[in-house]
Amino acid sequence: MTEVFSLAGRVALVTGAGNGIGRATALHLAAMGATVGVNDLKPEFVDKVVAEIIAAGGKALAVTRNISTRDGMRAAVLGVAEQAGRLDVLVNNAAWVRYQAVPDIAPETMDRMLDVGFKAVIWGIQAATEAMDPERGGCIINIASVAAVTGLQNGLVYCGIKAGVTGITRAAAAELGPRGIRVNAVAPSAIPTEGTMRNRNDERDARRVARTPLGRLGEVRDIARAVGFLASDQAGFVTGQVMLVDGGITSSSL
Ligand SMILES: NC(=O)c1ccc[n+]([C@@H]2O[C@H](COP(=O)([O-])OP(=O)(O)OC[C@H]3O[C@@H](n4cnc5c(N)ncnc54)[C@H](O)[C@@H]3O)[C@@H](O)[C@H]2O)c1
Repeated sequence: MTEVFSLAGRVALVTGAGNGIGRATALHLAAMGATVGVNDLKPEFVDKVVAEIIAAGGKALAVTRNISTRDGMRAAVLGVAEQAGRLDVLVNNAAWVRYQAVPDIAPETMDRMLDVGFKAVIWGIQAATEAMDPERGGCIINIASVAAVTGLQNGLVYCGIKAGVTGITRAAAAELGPRGIRVNAVAPSAIPTEGTMRNRNDERDARRVARTPLGRLGEVRDIARAVGFLASDQAGFVTGQVMLVDGGITSSSL
């Protein structure tokens, strides 16, 4: 019988996989059978997730690198392809985020957000296009956000970047489809992670839950599972899509 949702024999790289959604995604793709390149800035984050994957019986490679420059991203992508002998899946997940009111937006925060959350997605796609086998093709999944399609207070830069990521996703799907590379985005709603702790607020979370048809906040595994589907052959005719994984909050007027 065909194994549905299997990634056996495939090689994936997940950026920003030391925490949060990236970590859950790396663990999930490894559980589906992929060898997973675990990227993050700090070796202690990377080594912990690599160890978790290996302890669960999976295969992982440590990719401790800053992917915010073209050189850093190329080294991460081409390094995994060289070490593992191929690259099938790239998940552009890493982000560095600050929410700032319009008068407070500072050049340094905007530049860092753009480098990690926007430019790195383009450099990742460029490097993956070089690394992915022209016969086998591959797939790229960009982590966007519901902020790509809704406004957020203090989110001018963040919403702009995530809307940009959805545009990149459609353009890359159009250009790379003929090379057998599928490109999609997953757009999560608010998910409790290390990165969102500083902005959490119980009252706001309760309001979000009340407005969410499925009646809860999302969890990192909700996002990991959507990425796993898009990475699998089950999504073999799906490209250029932005999949909102948000419990219905964006499409509902509850
Ligand atoms: N958590 C949410 O509510 C939520 C909602 C919508 C979208 N997202 C998106 O999901 C993705 C993951 O979010 P999260 O909440 O899990 O984030 P997180 O902050 O918990 O984890 C992000 C990881 O990326 C790493 N990272 C940052 N800069 C890096 C760089 N230059 N090179 C390599 N690694 C780097 C960090 O060290 C960290 O481990 C982001 O793209 C974020 O915008 C998150």
